[in-house]
Amino acid sequence: LDNGLARTPQLGWDTWNSFGCSLNATVILETAQKITSLGFKDLGYNYVVMDDCWSAGRNSSGYLVPNSQKFPNGIKDLADKIHNMGLKIGIYSSAGTMTCARYAGSLGYEEKDASLWASWGIDYLKYDNCYNQGEEGTPKLSYDRYDAMGKALNSTGRPILYSLCNWGVDGPWNFAPTIGNSWRMSGDLFNTWDRQDVNCPCAELEGLNCKTPGYHCSVLNVLGKAVYIPSKAYAGAWNDLDMLQVGNGGLTDDEAIAHFSLWAALKSPLLMTNVMTKIDAPTLSILQNTAVLAVSQDPEGSSAVRVWRYNVDGGDIQMFSGSLSGGDQVVLLLNGGSTAREMNATLTEIFWMDGVSGTASQVQSSWDVYDLWADRMSNSTADAIIQGDGKRPINMTAMGGAEKVYAQT
Ligand code: DGJ
Repeated sequence: LDNGLARTPQLGWDTWNSFGCSLNATVILETAQKITSLGFKDLGYNYVVMDDCWSAGRNSSGYLVPNSQKFPNGIKDLADKIHNMGLKIGIYSSAGTMTCARYAGSLGYEEKDASLWASWGIDYLKYDNCYNQGEEGTPKLSYDRYDAMGKALNSTGRPILYSLCNWGVDGPWNFAPTIGNSWRMSGDLFNTWDRQDVNCPCAELEGLNCKTPGYHCSVLNVLGKAVYIPSKAYAGAWNDLDMLQVGNGGLTDDEAIAHFSLWAALKSPLLMTNVMTKIDAPTLSILQNTAVLAVSQDPEGSSAVRVWRYNVDGGDIQMFSGSLSGGDQVVLLLNGGSTAREMNATLTEIFWMDGVSGTASQVQSSWDVYDLWADRMSNSTADAIIQGDGKRPINMTAMGGAEKVYAQT
């Protein structure tokens, strides 16, 4: 959406994965303070988003009313405090009669709700897809529901980032870029790398033709779908691979590194959802990797593409490559197997983008290679230098479940 917002994927924090319906003003303010004092704000994580369960229904004039126990001073007061910290505040609703947790939805109330949020100073709307009157999978009807809110937000005159949470809609990337700043492209990302009991039929084999999206997806499920749509993303309009599960206990550090790196390189919004007051050192180190954040926020806004995927010796290995501004390139080698292995990628492969080979100067020149995780986590490899004759491989050892990120600087 060309509204001047999210020119790079939005960064922030959302209440849902850790607090669910137990959100309140205290939790949000404590988190906002931590986001500031721990240095997240300075790294660009500036949106603090309250998810489902904040309201207490509508008043007799049809306006939404905040839950007075959760928000005793109202939401404008909270928004003012968040703004005074130099952060921005997000709110949540659904393009249906109710939200997913059965609170009042915004269908038919778009203008009232948008104007109320603008009067409170809201900067961001996450707009869900529950109780949508059976229209969840229908692109045309979904377009109308999401477009109605987009127009209402626009007519407030306040810049409000519009995050479509349109899980279940078939091919949202075909209509969402003109009405929203980001759109969900999968079911909810659960706190698991590759658990078998998650319900995410829209995994890789179904690809873009999947008609029965699942609601509980693993990191690998979401990735398996995201690899089909990198070209749909551009400045102001991003594929949303769902919120980060880094620091929520379900991923090993290597898996969290891979998850964070992939979401950054694929240009997903990066919304943390951990309990900030209890953050541990590895989580802090992963979420604050400035080199990986620079990939996410690269001004060129090109999503990395998957160049290859092989099953070797029972292990699933994948290579991603993406163009960065200034002629740099980001490369990810993902070892989805359970044992450490050496992985190679030639310059020809690295510059083989969307089936098109790289230029001679890309493939033949010499590149400096930097490990963006070096010196951050104990398993990192040293920097490597390769000569670019198009044949020589980058040699590296990827640890089980992790990948390393390289880019020229
Ligand atoms: C479904 C969304 O996908 C989640 O991120 C969260 O917003 C819940 N709904 C809230 O009910």
